[in-house]
Amino acid sequence: TTQQHAAPALVLDPTGSDRQGEDAALRARGPLTRVNVLGEQAWAITDPKLLKALLMDARISKDAHRHWPRFPTHTQEWPLALWVGVRNMFTAHGDNHRRLRRLVAPAFAGRRMTALTPRIEQITRELLTSIDRAAPGTPVDLRERYAAVLPIRVIGHLMGLPDNHIPDFRRTVDSVFDTTLTTDQAAANTQDLYAILTRLVTTKRAEPGDDLTTRLIQARDTDGLGGGLTEQELLDTLLLVISAGYETTVNLIDQAITALLTHPQHLAAIRTGALSWDDIVEETLRWKAPVPLLPMRYATTDIVLPKSQGIIRKGDAVIAAYSAANTHPALHGRTADRFDPARPDKAHLSFGHGVHACVGATLARLEATTALRMLFARFPHLTLAIHATQLTPLPSFLSHGHRTLPVLLRP
Ligand code: HEM
Repeated sequence: TTQQHAAPALVLDPTGSDRQGEDAALRARGPLTRVNVLGEQAWAITDPKLLKALLMDARISKDAHRHWPRFPTHTQEWPLALWVGVRNMFTAHGDNHRRLRRLVAPAFAGRRMTALTPRIEQITRELLTSIDRAAPGTPVDLRERYAAVLPIRVIGHLMGLPDNHIPDFRRTVDSVFDTTLTTDQAAANTQDLYAILTRLVTTKRAEPGDDLTTRLIQARDTDGLGGGLTEQELLDTLLLVISAGYETTVNLIDQAITALLTHPQHLAAIRTGALSWDDIVEETLRWKAPVPLLPMRYATTDIVLPKSQGIIRKGDAVIAAYSAANTHPALHGRTADRFDPARPDKAHLSFGHGVHACVGATLARLEATTALRMLFARFPHLTLAIHATQLTPLPSFLSHGHRTLPVLLRP
């Protein structure tokens, strides 16, 4: 550990300008390495085996309030304060985590998601019809008009979001994932977001519906389900489900479309039946993790790592480097950095692992396969409108997508 501490921390690039390069640099520094996360120090874990073990380790907590000595006094000026300070399942530990997760998880179970398929297809069809009106030869931004709209409309349906609340959520959730904001901009966005969440709760209290927002409000107001919720937990759970269910899935759809348009041989293999849409979605999740790095976890005690990999001291922060782990040669050999949906083993950690593993993984996969299948059926000759090297990344190390995805529907 002396050596690990002596090496200067690698400063994570807030602009996310070179995901693949930064992942390679992180891996080159060993299975775990010191990083500077917008001014706060953490251990980035890039080795897939070690990362999986730590994600299963009960000595590691996501609760900054209880287990990060830096919080809140030193992190008040930190742009990611919202990520670690929220009171919901994302940051809860132990029994608290089980209580908060139980209120939400059943709504996203496999059977429920299968029943949602017709609704997802209907929304997708409507979106395709609206972009179909573009004139031949005119570029269409598929991120803005398609990838970004489907997930928010689906989560909006499940949560009972009134249509006129959706633009506010899109804007503020985008900013939650933007790592180039100043502290003041991030704080202003957080304030904005809570105003929008409060308005949602007020609206749904007055007009309950058959949706998850209403059920969470009932859990809060009647103290009935699983021991109830505080008002803060209610707002932060709504914030979590709306934001986790949105930005991430937008990136998955964006990256999968981009991957297919730049690897036409795999699109051809789908058409012959040699590959499935599931293969494409799974390999995209592995190759372009929608959430490349996940803040934060904390050691609740000194943790001595196996094979003399070092010690993580009590109170140290840990950031899961999912993207670097997914493309680690130890997991996928020399072709780890290549998009190859035909590889038999597409193992990845993009949805996390262990008790905090993504609640919405089934929904995300269903949305993405539906979006791809219906898009390429409607526009079989779809192409990028600019060269792939001109696509610009989102300004973020927490969100891996493109600012825009200009395509020609009928070149
Ligand atoms: C947690 C990824 C879609 C809801 C997570 C985590 C990741 C993740 C990395 C955190 C794991 C950790 O603690 O390290 C993704 C990706 C998605 C996606 C890549 C899309 C491609 C969704 C959707 C929902 C959702 C559609 C809808 C409800 C959640 C929730 C948690 C979570 C509630 C917190 C779980 C917990 O802490 O117990 N997701 N997610 N996600 N995700 Fe997703």
